[in-house]
Amino acid sequence: MEKRTPRLGDIQETLLIPLYARAVETRKPRGMLKDPRAVDMVDALDYDFSRFDGAKSLLGANLRTLLFDLWVRDFLDRHPSGTVVEIGTGLNTRFERLDNGTVHWFDLDLPDVIALRRNFFEDTDRRRMLAASVTDSDWLEEVRSSSPGPYFLAAEAVLIYLEEEQVRSVLRQAGERLPGAHLALETASARMIDAQDSHDVLAGMAARMRWSCDDPRAVEHWQPGLRLTDSRTLAHLPAPVARQLPLPLRLVLRFMATVRRRDIEAYRFNLFRFASE
Ligand SMILES: C[S@@+](CC[C@H](N)C(=O)[O-])C[C@H]1O[C@@H](n2cnc3c(N)ncnc32)[C@H](O)[C@@H]1O
Repeated sequence: MEKRTPRLGDIQETLLIPLYARAVETRKPRGMLKDPRAVDMVDALDYDFSRFDGAKSLLGANLRTLLFDLWVRDFLDRHPSGTVVEIGTGLNTRFERLDNGTVHWFDLDLPDVIALRRNFFEDTDRRRMLAASVTDSDWLEEVRSSSPGPYFLAAEAVLIYLEEEQVRSVLRQAGERLPGAHLALETASARMIDAQDSHDVLAGMAARMRWSCDDPRAVEHWQPGLRLTDSRTLAHLPAPVARQLPLPLRLVLRFMATVRRRDIEAYRFNLFRFASE
């Protein structure tokens, strides 16, 4: 089969990192997750994925994915027919992992990514792709008017690539249009942003993280009623995620939590809830 060359902008290209991370993990006999679609997509793309081989970031990406999966699964347990919006979806396969037969789902990303995504995924009556920037507000109106609440917005490895002003604007508009919605996002400290030129994969790519946030609790003050309902680091994952990890990895993470505390605290995964109407 002829391979497809991904033609992507600089930030968009970063979607290949978590895609490859899931494929590598799936190929392991006792990997922490199984994503056969990721393996198929990696095989179908003409791209030198070997540049990511051995990077510790692949592990971090998979741990982050397991946590976001857990948060979305918890939401669906409480609201089986609610709506999930995967913001900056890339070639993510969360729907494949979590579909319960009743959820409504949107996969949103920039037009070149959605064009690539359409080679591998199709719209259905419960799942649709949206080609738009998260910074435009039209998609929020589209989601609100065509899909039932409550809403869960999963922004995995996306908003850190925007300027803080843009992140503030996204949150302001989402809070206005989808009151009561849940929002999962990660924060990177100024220390992590400053060190990104020596990041194990980003150093070799053109994309750069822009939004630095030392304390996710500060985001609560951006708008009335916005609440931080959970915040985790790689070393403090909830028990259902930690249980999926091999014991040696759990021990390494525990070790890092004490010895590399500043590095661990630099990167946080956060769950917010917007004020209800
Ligand atoms: C590191 S990738 C993460 C992909 C996916 N969330 C995952 O975990 O597999 C970053 C993604 O954010 C998307 N992105 C960046 N800026 C965006 C914007 N302004 N609007 C929508 N998506 C954006 C990129 O196109 C890319 O797919």
